[in-house]
Amino acid sequence: MKNAIKHSILSRAITYGASSIFVLVGLSACKQSTQQNEQTEQTQQAVQATVQSIDSADYQQAKQTRLAKVEQDVEQLLAKLTLEEKVSLVHASGKFHVNAIERLGIPELWLSDGPHGVRYQHERDTWNAAGWDDDHATYLPHLTTVAASFDPEMAHLHGSVLGAEARHRGKDIILGPGVNLARLPLYGRNFEYMGEDPFLAASLVVPEVKGIQSQDVAANAKHYALNTQELNRIGVNAKPDERTLREVYLPAFEAAVKQGGVYSVMGAYNQYYGTNANQSKHLVMDILKGDWGFDGVLLTDWNVDINTYDAAVNGLDLEMGTNVESYDDYFLAQPFLQMLKDGKISESVVDDKVRRILRLMHRVGMWDESRLPGSRNTKTHQQAARHIASQGVVLLKNNGNVLPLSKDIKNVLVLGPNADRIHGLGGGSSEVKSLYEITPLQGLKNYLGDEVNIEVMRARSSSLAPIAADYIASKHWTGTPAWTYKRFSDASKSELLEESWIINASYKSGSDNASEFIEMDAEVKPFESGEHLLKLEYQGKISVNIDGDTVLELDSDSKQTASISVNLSADKNHKFAISYQGNGEFVLGWDAPGAFFVDKAEYTAAAAKADAVIYFGGLSHGDDREAIDRTDMKLPGSQDEVINNLLQANPNTVLFMVAGSAVEMPWAEQANALVWGWYGGLEAGNAFADVIFGDVNPSGKMPITLPKRLQDTAAIALNDYNATESLYKEGVFIGYRWFEQQAIEPEFVFGHGLSYTDFTFENIDISKGEYASDDDSNGLYQVTVDVKNTGKRAGAEVVQLYLQDVEASVERPIKELKGFAKVFLQPGESKQVSMVLSQRDLSFWSVEANDWKAEAGQFKVHLGASLADIRLTEAFQYEPGNN
Ligand code: BGC
Repeated sequence: MKNAIKHSILSRAITYGASSIFVLVGLSACKQSTQQNEQTEQTQQAVQATVQSIDSADYQQAKQTRLAKVEQDVEQLLAKLTLEEKVSLVHASGKFHVNAIERLGIPELWLSDGPHGVRYQHERDTWNAAGWDDDHATYLPHLTTVAASFDPEMAHLHGSVLGAEARHRGKDIILGPGVNLARLPLYGRNFEYMGEDPFLAASLVVPEVKGIQSQDVAANAKHYALNTQELNRIGVNAKPDERTLREVYLPAFEAAVKQGGVYSVMGAYNQYYGTNANQSKHLVMDILKGDWGFDGVLLTDWNVDINTYDAAVNGLDLEMGTNVESYDDYFLAQPFLQMLKDGKISESVVDDKVRRILRLMHRVGMWDESRLPGSRNTKTHQQAARHIASQGVVLLKNNGNVLPLSKDIKNVLVLGPNADRIHGLGGGSSEVKSLYEITPLQGLKNYLGDEVNIEVMRARSSSLAPIAADYIASKHWTGTPAWTYKRFSDASKSELLEESWIINASYKSGSDNASEFIEMDAEVKPFESGEHLLKLEYQGKISVNIDGDTVLELDSDSKQTASISVNLSADKNHKFAISYQGNGEFVLGWDAPGAFFVDKAEYTAAAAKADAVIYFGGLSHGDDREAIDRTDMKLPGSQDEVINNLLQANPNTVLFMVAGSAVEMPWAEQANALVWGWYGGLEAGNAFADVIFGDVNPSGKMPITLPKRLQDTAAIALNDYNATESLYKEGVFIGYRWFEQQAIEPEFVFGHGLSYTDFTFENIDISKGEYASDDDSNGLYQVTVDVKNTGKRAGAEVVQLYLQDVEASVERPIKELKGFAKVFLQPGESKQVSMVLSQRDLSFWSVEANDWKAEAGQFKVHLGASLADIRLTEAFQYEPGNN
């Protein structure tokens, strides 16, 4: 039975993309050490559960029959619809659903966020939670984790679980995966996507989409296209040149459509050359529905800036989330109906949209009794989440083999803001109401049991720290504890210039001379009742008000400090309000009762004594969140200071970062053990412990470059990040392509990730022939290499193939990822892996030819364990037409 399941996964997997071969290798890796065996067993169980129903012959037969008659069924239904009914199907009739047409048995079409789990249920017509108590879902590791796994099998498993859960919640479209690229480290939504490389994202989106859709739910590739910043996300005008668009920002969408067969796509909020992306003729009619032949549904993001005529004729199929009084006022509702009636738009336009919507409904089996029922919150889904999370963990440094930690340790010191923080209900629309979430600290406790002493400390900053987020009861809509923030034009507050949310009670003016007028407020809930010593650092005019009473009112041109003791109750949310006027800065902190924070002397002494010190740092959804970009790339709070102190006290401190975007790590050089874990879903803590103690040998690789400084990144260096327009000045040199071109050394390169064992690469061979390719071009070359595990532990290596076009008529990146293969090996074992290079892999987008072009000349194949760790290079001569 197991073999049959393996085979069925494999036959689906084999169609994925450039890296199909490694799926074969990955799945045959079973006989590892006992613990690796358990992990493999767990994945297989998880895979088995998700494929069980879809493997049944009856179901497969029914699905084939269903799919074979989709077009016929669509036409029959379309012929019966009145014009009004047709129009009712192309816009929302609720926050997340489309109208039913009862007389024809057309059910409501239900959509739900998002990429890493089904979102909780909303009220039908509002953003309010419906208040259900059974709308929990498995909180899956984010797509950054899937990207870091470099493993299509993980993407397929992730998609299958997501699809099964969406089905079980009665959804027809799940709004994911997100495949925009991480161009800018500050971008608030990097955590929802698959890294910075178009080839990697394209390779992984295909199995992700297939996994979702295997469960009779439509996947939704979003946000099409060029959604690379949250700063003025609705208004910013994206203006990349055509080559950059095609080579960098579209391949993941193209693969989702052409190889993944995705049933729906969501447009982006931003503009594209002055037109909203949802109604851009070029993006939609020329490319998505033209060149790629997309026959599914293009739906809007929620509340976009469109107009009826352009949206209708330029291919938008379904309008969602528009912020108007009545559903009839949607651009594609009454205004559209009127234009159809007036003959301004032909009925064939609405027919095409309705056809696509009915096609999607038939494809997912909305009238088919054999449609899968889905499953949710199952043990196997949780196991799958744990396994995926562990496969995406990246070991950045391990000098002196600090890791894995010995299981015999007796005293562990745990610090850092992410030790006991949960992330599921944060980040924005991708939030997931999880049944539970294992924090890193809980994971350690689960792993080590009661015998081991785990001491937890919160380190106090040496400078005044803003009141910790733990005390903030008010929340941004993304679920993050936060202060509201308003900036006015003058002291009388006549004009509101900016309204936002910030995590900390601190502010630094961006103005050199003119005064700024700031109002902030938050609800603050103490842990213990009693005297709290409020501490304020300020320059300017400031007042602090608590529950209606002004407790501090100060004014100074130079930097000053002030403090006052206030009596607060732990039983209530106190209303704090700060009013500031000036061009300086302020920080509001406090000494709260209780020993919540400890000073440097105490935590460094404990660190020096402990058998092991683990610091869980990084970001949270206060930083990585929809709608707002970060303002810098630094670790929030006093993390850098505390890490430096810990490294001095105990150089073997394990620094474990949890984040969805790059951060500056100025102490990286001094660190011996540094790990990157991403937001790992509901089993994150257990998965991290699996890696920390060596039950899982890490095999993740960085899907983003980790720059040393924000200024090193292209968009910032080229001054191309603002609220008005993005010119994509670096062109095709996104991410590591920029760092290589500019010879800038990052902190950690793309593709980097260590293992607890070592691998060698030998015998590179490039053969020319006709090979099955993952894209729609010819497979021209097969590259093979022998990979050997020369260490003492079983483990997996990701062979990365970087291609260099040595002689090109246009400027091309020095190296570009064009293949990868993950191979699992026993100690001493060697296996050959192979990857196919297609004509498309060799090509650049030729603006003159308006097509892909592979030019004659020399190409070099670099095989490495990362972009910088190239082990073997071999050249070949390409001649078009002679291959
Ligand atoms: C987000 C989408 C999301 C939609 C529905 C928008 O704000 O950009 O990604 O699917 O809301 O929640």
